Amino acid sequence: MTFLELAKKRHSCRKFCTKKVEEEKLMQILEAARVAPTAVNKQPARLLVIQGADGLAKLGKTADVYNAPLVILVCGEPEKAWERPFDKKNVLDVDLAIVTDHMMLTATDLGLNSLWVCYFDPAVLKKEFNIPANYVVLNALAIGYGNGTPASPDRHDEKRKPLESFVFYETM
Ligand SMILES: Cc1cc2nc3c(=O)[nH]c(=O)nc-3n(C[C@H](O)[C@H](O)[C@H](O)COP(=O)(O)O)c2cc1C
Repeated sequence: MTFLELAKKRHSCRKFCTKKVEEEKLMQILEAARVAPTAVNKQPARLLVIQGADGLAKLGKTADVYNAPLVILVCGEPEKAWERPFDKKNVLDVDLAIVTDHMMLTATDLGLNSLWVCYFDPAVLKKEFNIPANYVVLNALAIGYGNGTPASPDRHDEKRKPLESFVFYETM
């Protein structure tokens, strides 16, 4: 499978079966996070792996992960991320998005399904999981084995904008 075929195969899964994610696969997913690029190699991400029933129940207080058996909370330390000097832009969110995407696509490569979730109250998660106050809680990546019909890799013909509507050449 080429990378583009993998990227097109990945889809948001909102129906998981109860089968657990194998430890070996989890470690490969975490390794993909480890090697992700970050600005100035600052590596500001802090990951919280949630698989236990208690943890998943706590997560369920504020996030819908559709009964996925594994969730990786992608957090980060803003003070550790690079700040662009010209406009003081802190790139933590960019770094964390790349880490999340690396893990998500690795999950696809391993035959797993996933859902990227941002709809939650970070304050609830900070309290439930003892996450330090200065951390940003940005993404929850739900991972497991899908229990439904996978979305078609050809759906992007309709579901995505055509290139000419957002790509510009030489000048905007
Ligand atoms: C940053 C981000 C946040 C998202 N948050 C949620 C979410 O909270 N709940 C959800 O069901 N899907 C969420 N999604 C999934 C998107 O809705 C989905 O990726 C998009 O509709 C395209 O569909 P596809 O992933 O199947 O190609 C999120 C995706 C991204 C990239």
